Parts: sequence; C-alpha cells; structure tokens
Amino acid sequence: MTNAGNTLTGSRKNALYIGASGEIFTKTAKALTLLYDLNREDVRASHRPPVNPDLVLIEAVGVDAHDAVELIPAVRDSVGNCPVFLIIDRRDGDILFAAAKHGVQGFIEMPGDLANILSIIHKEEQRGKGVFSGQIVSFFSLKGGVGTTTVAVNVAEQLAIHTGGSAILLDINMPLGDSALYINPGGREYYSINDFILNINRLDDDLMGNAIACHSSGLRYLGLPANLEELESITDVNIKMVLTVLRRYYNYVIIDCPSDLNPVTLACLDDSASIMLVAEPSLSSMRAVRVAFDTCRQLGYPAQRLKLILNRAIPQGDEIINELLEALQIPVDANIENNYLTFVSALHKGCLLQEFAPKSQANQQMKDIAALLLPDGLEEGKAVLSSSSKKKSAWLSFLFNKRSASPIEAGT
Ligand SMILES: Nc1ncnc2c1ncn2[C@@H]1O[C@H](COP(=O)(O)OP(=O)(O)OP(=O)(O)O)[C@@H](O)[C@H]1O
Ligand SMILES: [Mg+2]
Repeated sequence: MTNAGNTLTGSRKNALYIGASGEIFTKTAKALTLLYDLNREDVRASHRPPVNPDLVLIEAVGVDAHDAVELIPAVRDSVGNCPVFLIIDRRDGDILFAAAKHGVQGFIEMPGDLANILSIIHKEEQRGKGVFSGQIVSFFSLKGGVGTTTVAVNVAEQLAIHTGGSAILLDINMPLGDSALYINPGGREYYSINDFILNINRLDDDLMGNAIACHSSGLRYLGLPANLEELESITDVNIKMVLTVLRRYYNYVIIDCPSDLNPVTLACLDDSASIMLVAEPSLSSMRAVRVAFDTCRQLGYPAQRLKLILNRAIPQGDEIINELLEALQIPVDANIENNYLTFVSALHKGCLLQEFAPKSQANQQMKDIAALLLPDGLEEGKAVLSSSSKKKSAWLSFLFNKRSASPIEAGT
C-alpha cells in the first residue's frame, strides 16, 4: 500500500477506492496517477480505510450500485471530512439523489468522465467541502390566479439584488409556467430544468454561468422545457436532485409552485426552509389557506416555516377576511397592495417591478418580503390582523370546519 509519506515528491495524495471491480480500479488509478496514489479496499472484505485518505471513490456500478450507496454514511463516518465521490455507470435518479443526500461531493460517470477525473475533483474541491447551504423558498397557493408567480419573481429579484446574484428562480408550473413572461430570458437557448437534469453530472462553474439564463438583476432562472415530452423527466426524485445541486451554487433557490400538491410540489415543499403561502382577500383563497396550513401540519412541517402573504390587499383591510384569519389564528406576514395598473403594465413590458416601478409601494412590499427571508432582515411577529371581533361569521362556518380554528403546532 502506497501513501503520501513514501512518494518521491511528498506532494502526492492518498486516495481510497472502495469497490470490487479490478478493471475500474485500474483505469481509475491510471487516470488519477498525476496527483494521487490509489489504494483499493474491497468492502465485502473487512472494511477499514487506510490512514487519513485525501479522497474516497466508491464504485456504484451494475447491480451492486444501490448497495454501494448504502455504504456512504459508514464510509463518511470513518474518513471524516475527506471528499467522497461516487463512480457510476448510469444516471439513475434514485442513486444520484440518495448519494447527494448522504453528502457525496460529486459523481464520476464511467467511462466518459475518467479522462477528466482530476479536473472534476478539483472543481468540486474548489467549490467547498459538501456545502449544501442555500435556502429553498417555495411560493405556493392551493388556489390559482392569486398572484403566486408575480410575488415569486419579484421577491426572487430582490433576493438576487441583495445577494449579488446568488439567487435562482425555478418554475415547476407544468406544463407551461408563466414566470418566463416576467424573466424574459429570450435571446438564445438557455437550459431548462430538463436540460439541467440531463447534464447534472457535467455541471461546472463555467456551465452554470453560461447555460443558465440570467435576468438583468442577476437573478438566475431555470424554466420548463418548451417541448412537452421533456416534462416527463421532471419527477419528484429528479427535482430533489436539482435542488440539492442548486443549493450548492446559490444562497437562495426560489420555486414558483403550481396550485396542487403533486409529488413534485411536495418534494419542493419538503426541502423548503420557507413556504410562502400566497393568498388574496377572498373566501375561496382563505379556504385554500386553511387547507394548506392543515396539510403542512399533517406533513409535520414546523409552523415557522410557513409565511402568509396577502396579495391584492386593500388598505383598510377586509373585515370578514380579518375575522377569518383571526379565527384560524394565522398571522399575515406581509401584504401587497392591489394595483392592477402597475402589475399588468409591468407584465406587458416584460419587466419586474424593480425596473418598471422601483419607487412603487408594491416594489417596496416585495423588498419587505425578501427581508423576511434574509438572515439580517428577519422581522418576527409582523402580524397585521385586525383586533376586532374574534367571532367568525356563523354563515361561513361551512367553509371552515371546527378543527381549522386550532393553531398549527411546531412540527419536528
Ligand atoms: N397585487 C396585485 N395587484 C393587481 N394585480 C395583480 C397583483 N398581483 C398579481 N396581479 C395580476 O394578477 C394576474 C395573475 O397573477 P399571477 O400569474 O402571478 O397569478 P398565479 O397565482 O401565479 O396564477 P396561476 O395559478 O395561473 O399560476 C396577473 O395579471 C398579475 O399581473
Ligand atoms: Mg403562476
């Protein structure tokens, strides 16, 4: 067994290969030879990594691939902070996602990636060790047409401005998704979510910079594919993988969700640090809010993850809506004014508010919502509920059954 201590230059590193295939081991050792001495460990024999490897490669090919992924936590435990890469022979969403979840640094796909293995490892190391730190923020409403996309894109823009471009908007409103109307990527062909999934293993900083659309504010954008057949690849497993990767590149991953709880939406909500429920002051929207809160509680989401945004709010407030919110014990975290002219004119010009009406109240309200998500801008308890009657109008109770009156509890 060779290690860094007995090489001629002393600058070579020590890598550990875990896997049964002699052929892949030999090829990998050759590809790494400039920088690493590769030692092999067959996990089916007794598993004990050699002294402090600088790199671990786990073979996850053929029928044993899933078993290999299961080994990752134990391997990570024994090698500490050392980067772990998975050698794969196919892009199986389950394998990629499970591996990313276990904190692997990257993937080496056989046979194509072997030629670039050193640069793949180098780029991943540059990016930092296992940093999955970006915050996922989902904008969601169980009722359509309440302004979810409008709020998502404008808040995303503010987050991009505040973070110097470290924010990306993801549109999962299959099949069409309206966010492109606001972001207006145009010009040339940029990656769709589908392209991103297909190329997930080839991504590097250059590709991330050039292939992903960028709005003039610095907001990055991944929209839906134009070809409807390509929507098939946008599954819950794949979208989780996309989120896992995007979190490594951006401080904020903002998702414009559809108005239903399909598996892809749920996958996004599951991983979200904040779920921004968008509503409008109407009874049907309030009912949707109540159901969304109940569902989130049933899913075990912590109460503080949910924030209620009341869009198209009227200045003096709506007495019945305020009563309902109070009865449901759901505080409103932010209001957005009802301003048809500003919003629709901005949309028709393909602009976001920061460009179209930077000084408008609506734009200021988008900034306030972004501030709710920024670590230094959190303002707790911004409830704007009316302190009037605590009694819910009796005739509305058919919409809001008794259990709706209980507050949601902090989940796990
Ligand atoms: N505060 C507001 N005042 C006036 N008009 C608004 C406001 N917010 C959104 N709108 C307008 O309402 C329309 C619907 O908005 P948007 O597309 O954002 O809703 P949505 O909830 O995403 O709809 P969908 O369910 O179709 O995805 C748009 O024309 C938008 O400009
Ligand atoms: Mg929408």
